[in-house]
Order: sequence, then structure tokens, then C-alpha cells
Amino acid sequence: MMISFRLKAVGVLSGLLLLAGVAGAAEVFEPGAVWPDDQGQHIQAHGGGVIRLGDTYYWFGEDRAQTNGRGWRCVSCYSSKDLAHWTHRGQVFRARQLPEFTRGWILERPKVFYNAKTKKYVMYMHLDGPMAGQPGSYAMARVGVAVCDTVDGQYQFVKSFRPLGQQSRDIGQFIDDDGAAYLIFEDRPNGFHIAQLSEDYLDVAKEVCLIPEHLEGGAVVHYQGLYYAIGSHLTGWGANPNVYATAKSLAGPWSEFRDLAPRELNTYGSQSSMLLPVTGTKGTTVIFMGDIWKPESQWDSRYLWMPLQIGDGRMWLPAPQKWSLDMKTGVAEILQR
Ligand code: GAL
Repeated sequence: MMISFRLKAVGVLSGLLLLAGVAGAAEVFEPGAVWPDDQGQHIQAHGGGVIRLGDTYYWFGEDRAQTNGRGWRCVSCYSSKDLAHWTHRGQVFRARQLPEFTRGWILERPKVFYNAKTKKYVMYMHLDGPMAGQPGSYAMARVGVAVCDTVDGQYQFVKSFRPLGQQSRDIGQFIDDDGAAYLIFEDRPNGFHIAQLSEDYLDVAKEVCLIPEHLEGGAVVHYQGLYYAIGSHLTGWGANPNVYATAKSLAGPWSEFRDLAPRELNTYGSQSSMLLPVTGTKGTTVIFMGDIWKPESQWDSRYLWMPLQIGDGRMWLPAPQKWSLDMKTGVAEILQR
């Protein structure tokens, strides 16, 4: 387990001293706080995903800024080398209308994959909206695909479809150690899909596993020879106790799902979005990336990023508190209780 608890080690020091002690050496994260970008604006990358290209991380997500203008759906891109300080690279996708979607359409949980063969960046997004003859505002249940030649250019919309012919709402992204790219999607009638993308990433090619559990906010990480999958129950913007399962192969069999945090605390008010491994000279920290949704003021929705306690088939999300990450060693430390 790569997380050490500094308070236990140097319990006599005050929180302030602890913070002073790590300044410069490691980046400090404050779950739930306003997270300003390089322009001083709260980061707009809700329901997002992070990819690493060389030594730079790119964070894509729903841009719900109040200044976006009525009717626009936007995706923003940010870059960082330390995961703590993010530069806004701009809105990389903006649309008011899309083919086949009517008024009230929805764009959520964008994820970007880099295809080394085609040298294209391929964005997947959950596209939804009302559909004639169907109840509810999430009736279309499709994924959208947009492509770009550069990571932070303007992505051009290509198409939307139902992956493997199935309903798809929340999506997640997983890139395995061999570079293979997977889309995780929630299919209301059937469950939690892990599906491999086609060679050019423009399609969802084949089912790798269908876990017959109804879970959203799906994410997967590969850690010390085991796959860990997480998800939240279906309670809309309201938080619920997120759960995890493990398997030796992506195709399963998967263990039963277990709680990720104390049940009654509803994942500390957050919902899973991604599991991000950061490997350094001393090991790997897996970061739980969650959203703390504020449905009445979505632009102010917060992020809960915390290092997970993970290993030997167990995963645990510690209570949110300040923590630091040493990008060189890959070691995270929790700073305050
Ligand atoms: C959540 C989902 C969000 C959004 C919301 C709408 O369960 O994870 O992405 O779709 O429902 O109620």
C-alpha cells in the first residue's frame, strides 16, 4: 500500500507545520474546495477524464460555466504536469444542436482517447435527450464521437450511436497497460459494459464483459495484477455509496461489489468518475476522481480527488482531507484528519 499517513508518523506537529513541511516537495490537493485554474476560474471539467501524453496530463470534462450562453453544451480541456495546477486550454467542443437530437439534449462525461495509429484524438461523450414516444429527458441513451488532430484543438463531431446496439448513459474510459482502449457504459436494461474500441477508436467494437449490475460513473484501474472496477448506484445527482469489484481479467469473473467507503456517508457526497494511477520511482498512487454535484448550481460542482488505499483485492476511499502527491516518487500522503 503506497499511502502513508503523515499525521501518524509526526503526530506532534500542527497541520500548518505539516503543510509547510511539504511545500515545494509535493502538490497539495483539497477535496471539495473551489479549484481555480490558471485564470483563477473554478475548473469546469465535471464528469471528466484525465489522460497522460508524455509528461503532461489533460483533463477533459463538462464545462458548465454560467457564461457559456443559453443552449450551448461545452467541453473544456485543461493541462497540468503535477495534477494540481491546471491551465485552461480552452473549450474544445461546443455545440448548440446535433443531428438527431432535439431541444433539451444533454452532453455529459466526455472522455478523450489518443489513437497512436491514426494520430487522432477521439472524444466520446454521453449524448442524451428526449425522444418521440418515450418518457423522460434521458431517452436517446447514445454515445457521441468527435475527433481532432491536436489534443486541445476544436473537436469535430462525427456521429452518435448506441454502442453494441445497447442503451448507453454514463460512460467511463479505461486504457490498459498494453494501450488497448475501452469504453465503460451503463445500459439500463442489462448493466455495466466494458467494451473495446475499434482500431481507429471511432466505434465500439466488441464486448469484453457485461457485469449484470446497475452502476453508473463506471471506472476501471489495473493495479498490481488485478483489475478494480467502481461505480455508483442509480440515484441521479444525489450521492450514494459507491462500490467496487475485482477481477484477474477484464473479461471477469468479477467479485461481488463491496463498499468503497462507510455506507452511511454516501461516498462523502461524491460520485465516481475515474480512477487515475500515478506511478513514480517508489510506487503507484491510484486517485479516486469523483464529482460533488450541485444540481442547482452545476458550475459550482466540486471535485473529490483522494488517494485510494488499494491492494490485495481491497479498495478504500479515506475521508476527504488535504493530501499531497509527490509526482516523482508516486507517493501520496494524507496531511490532515
Ligand atoms: C447521474 C449521472 C450524471 C447525470 C445525472 C443526471 O447518475 O452520473 O452524469 O446523468 O445522473 O441525473
